[in-house]
Amino acid sequence: MQAGKAGDALVPRARFPLLRDAPDLVYLDSASSAQKPDVVIDRLVNFYRHEYANIHRGLYPLSEEASDAYDKARARVARFLGATRNEIIFTRNATEAINLVAHAYGDSQLRPGDLILTSLLEHHANIVPWQLLKERRRLRLAAIPIDSAGNIDLARYEMLLAREPKLVAITAAANTIGTVTPLPKMIAMAHAAGALVLVDAAQAAPHLPIDVRSLDCDFLAITGHKLYGPDGIGALFVKEAIMDDLPPFLGGGGMIRSVTIEHTEFAHGPRRFEAGTPAIGPAIAFASALDFIEEIGFPALAGHDAALATYAAERLPEISGLNIIGAPKERIGIMSFTMDGLHPHDIGTLLGESGVCLRAGHHCAQPLMDHFGITGTARISFAAHNTTQDIDRLVDSLARVRQMLR
Ligand code: ALA
Repeated sequence: MQAGKAGDALVPRARFPLLRDAPDLVYLDSASSAQKPDVVIDRLVNFYRHEYANIHRGLYPLSEEASDAYDKARARVARFLGATRNEIIFTRNATEAINLVAHAYGDSQLRPGDLILTSLLEHHANIVPWQLLKERRRLRLAAIPIDSAGNIDLARYEMLLAREPKLVAITAAANTIGTVTPLPKMIAMAHAAGALVLVDAAQAAPHLPIDVRSLDCDFLAITGHKLYGPDGIGALFVKEAIMDDLPPFLGGGGMIRSVTIEHTEFAHGPRRFEAGTPAIGPAIAFASALDFIEEIGFPALAGHDAALATYAAERLPEISGLNIIGAPKERIGIMSFTMDGLHPHDIGTLLGESGVCLRAGHHCAQPLMDHFGITGTARISFAAHNTTQDIDRLVDSLARVRQMLR
């Protein structure tokens, strides 16, 4: 799937049933959640209509086939990340994946006084679980600073590493201003300082290829719904050698080898972390979403992001009093802005009334808002269906809002 010219849709709107049926809707909120393509919806519906049974429990063909499809979905996620299937735990989303690490790794292996580093670019899912862990284990938590453009301050990161953190929890790309962090360098620096590294790749994965082997990260979280897949399904990569040492997160069926009233022997590998009946249909449709995204191809997605970001950066300043927040060296297709005299929530509501969907507010990233001295932004984010005409519609609507306020 290739665009005709820069800024055309990479995938026609007709492939997204919701967008096909709402031709006037401008959807610029894929960083919050991506619209679903036909192949993902069809896979989900077909599974429930024709293939549904619980997995790893039934000995009849319907259950065995559902088990096989679920296991293949795990292998598909592993292939997407460059991992092995024994390193992929299905979770509800990236937030649950990060909480799983905080509980299974943090509670069992960190000691009072140990230091965790996160950064000012994170959304709350990569801050709050560490704060809760800090309270439980009496740890220390510090944030890697960023510069005024919104890039990681590597010199100050190096200074923080001298304090010998046990874990660095860092985003691959910021959900607010789109900054791509210099992960290979940051991970190598963390390992040299003796720290493990968790990567929050929830925002980056729909835009950039992720290879856990070349990154050499220890944990990495993604979520299905931002990757054109269903909600309620995400994945956590854990290096196999580390996973073997982690205690379970939740207890229940499916994660055991044997149970007596006194004692349980736990399953090995990812299933130790998947207690209870999992999100079977969503996992299977997640695999179809990954086929969809890889069929588009990351080179095409990166070119599309760049074309739309360049066009938006040219057109948005036409609106008087509009300020683009952050100017990262490298970004994914996410941009934030404010407008003088207008609360971000008002931008979101007024644009919504003209059929333009964007996210407005603090984006669950209040420390970053504090850094920029603002309470929130309006945020646009791009996906395969977006075009330069979507940005024209955005700019026209913003101009009308500006006009109304004169
Ligand atoms: N983390 C998602 C966002 O940035 C929900 O909108």
